[in-house]
Amino acid sequence: MTNFHGTFLRWVFLVACIPKLALSCANHALDTGDPAIIAANHAARRAPQAAQKIAIYNVRVFDGDRILPPTTVIIDNGVIGINPFGAKFIDGQGQVLLPGFIDTHSHPRTVDDLNEQSSYGITTTFLQAGGSAAVRESLTNHPGITDLRFASLPAVATNDSSAVPPFIAAQGGFISSPEQAPGFVKNQSATSDWIKILAVSPNIPTVVQPVLNALVASAQNYGKQTICHAPAYESVRQALKAGVSQLHHSPLDKAADDDLVQLYRAGKQPNCPTLVGMLAITDRNPYFGLNYTAAAASVTTLYNAGVPILAGTDSTLQAGVPFIVPYGSSIHLEVQLLVEAGLSNLDALRAVTSLPAKYYGLRDRGRIFPGMRADLVLVGGNPLRNISNTRDIKRVWLAGIEHAVNTTTTLTKESLAVINTPLSG
Ligand SMILES: *[C@@H]1O[C@H](CO)[C@@H](O)[C@H](O)[C@H]1NC(C)=O
Ligand SMILES: *[C@@H]1O[C@H](CO)[C@@H](O)[C@H](O)[C@H]1NC(C)=O
Ligand SMILES: *[C@@H]1O[C@H](CO)[C@@H](O)[C@H](O)[C@H]1NC(C)=O
Ligand SMILES: *[C@@H]1O[C@H](CO)[C@@H](O)[C@H](O)[C@H]1NC(C)=O
Ligand SMILES: *[C@@H]1O[C@H](CO)[C@@H](O)[C@H](O)[C@H]1NC(C)=O
Ligand SMILES: [Zn+2]
Repeated sequence: MTNFHGTFLRWVFLVACIPKLALSCANHALDTGDPAIIAANHAARRAPQAAQKIAIYNVRVFDGDRILPPTTVIIDNGVIGINPFGAKFIDGQGQVLLPGFIDTHSHPRTVDDLNEQSSYGITTTFLQAGGSAAVRESLTNHPGITDLRFASLPAVATNDSSAVPPFIAAQGGFISSPEQAPGFVKNQSATSDWIKILAVSPNIPTVVQPVLNALVASAQNYGKQTICHAPAYESVRQALKAGVSQLHHSPLDKAADDDLVQLYRAGKQPNCPTLVGMLAITDRNPYFGLNYTAAAASVTTLYNAGVPILAGTDSTLQAGVPFIVPYGSSIHLEVQLLVEAGLSNLDALRAVTSLPAKYYGLRDRGRIFPGMRADLVLVGGNPLRNISNTRDIKRVWLAGIEHAVNTTTTLTKESLAVINTPLSG
């Protein structure tokens, strides 16, 4: 058990500067493309429903940027319309309408997982561990549930084969020299929306920097972004120097300092810190010296320096991973943790709506105005007054199709800790 757990952590965390604790993002390591799950996902595909025509009046609107005075928003044929004729009217007095939430970092595997996300107001999610065209097909184009975008197989940038899960290596994701980068990126580009990179620990013998540079250059040739898993200070530093498009996670060893801030500013990259994931991993693995305070302090430092912050959860329920973060409910804890790290409520709302849409180049969502997708969340109170009001969801629409809301479970720091009781060393 101890050995298995130790080996597993090495594969899945890729945490730098902590001997033996390699770092990678938990469950991508396990996204093996199980045929039974793929078949079940296809079987769960619903027939396209006609989107209702609805006019929500008297409602304050967070348009992706600011909260507007009460107005009317029309849902017409899946998009925000302008003509209320024939609409069913809903009184939004005292309520706030927001763009559907975007979870910038999650690991759904099944249609149930996507339904869970939908029921908490997540209308778009970015799966950060792809690699299988069959999985991608099984999780995309499901009308009425969370719209999914898909990472490549992770490129594990290291020359240490023991840091790479065998099935990733078997598919060509073990990138130990710059010469391998173009072939990998060419292979992955056809079936993925961006190239995922795992920047491994410099404590493991490694050739990270040249490999990172080559992966970024190759991705640029194919017009793909590079999204880099980097939960340790040195991984972040090298990934920023390589010019990756986005940094995901937050250093669990040493908080960002002026040197990292200068690199972030020079490259203008956003950070998706996945604080809820960082907290879960820290709760569950107390004996590895992971420092959640450092991860949160980095967010404070970066935010104060003007670095764009994106909301993502790293949600996964997969048995055997070194932490558990529920789908859906976790996005609300993430925005709370961002506010606790110093984001204004307004910037936390932007982090979960307009900013991810901008950085992923999705121009049809993340904001509310005529012509945009009718991805909408109606909440009972004003999240500018208290960010916990994002949890008070009354109704959710995904491209104009209403989805049931989950009102039974609220995730807090305390309940996250209960789910993630420490594993024995
Ligand atoms: C391309 O992908 C296939 C299927 O996943 C894999 O078998 C092959 O090794 C990959 N080739 C490269 C150069 O990554
Ligand atoms: C990996 O690269 C490092 C740094 O260049 C080097 O010290 C180490 O010997 C290499 N390890 C392997 C297994 O090639
Ligand atoms: C954790 O990080 C915080 C913030 O950077 C720091 O003040 C603290 O000393 C660190 N704790 C440990 C045990 O290293
Ligand atoms: C926000 O609301 C929650 C739940 O009602 C409450 O516990 C918390 O103290 C409130 N926070 C602020 C800043 O008012
Ligand atoms: C609500 O979400 C929780 C977990 O977040 C889940 O256990 C429960 O089954 C969900 N309830 C419904 C009605 O979907
Ligand atoms: Zn992840």
